[in-house]
Amino acid sequence: MSEFESVGRVEDFELGQGKAVVYDGRMVAIFRTTEGWYAIDDLCPHMGASLAEGYLEGNSVSCPWHAWRFCIKDGHWEDNPATKVDCFEVKVQGDEVMVREKNEDG
Ligand code: FES
Repeated sequence: MSEFESVGRVEDFELGQGKAVVYDGRMVAIFRTTEGWYAIDDLCPHMGASLAEGYLEGNSVSCPWHAWRFCIKDGHWEDNPATKVDCFEVKVQGDEVMVREKNEDG
């Protein structure tokens, strides 16, 4: 399993919004919500928009280009749950937001 890596400080992330960070050479969208922190692949599988820039409502983020909706908890495409983007584990340690790859299938 991969190690947690710092992707920024808590204060760099606004509540209720996404922010794209670089983790392990790829872009990952971090979401800070009142329920906790979540992370999914930032690249929309439709045409590559940044999901971090999408509209967050509850546990769903709508892609800013064509409004495909993804669950920020497990990465599934809400209009077709057979499709999903990768998701990542997030934890806050002190002042640092830490991410690592999730070790799971489906
Ligand atoms: S690029 Fe995301 S829905 Fe089209």
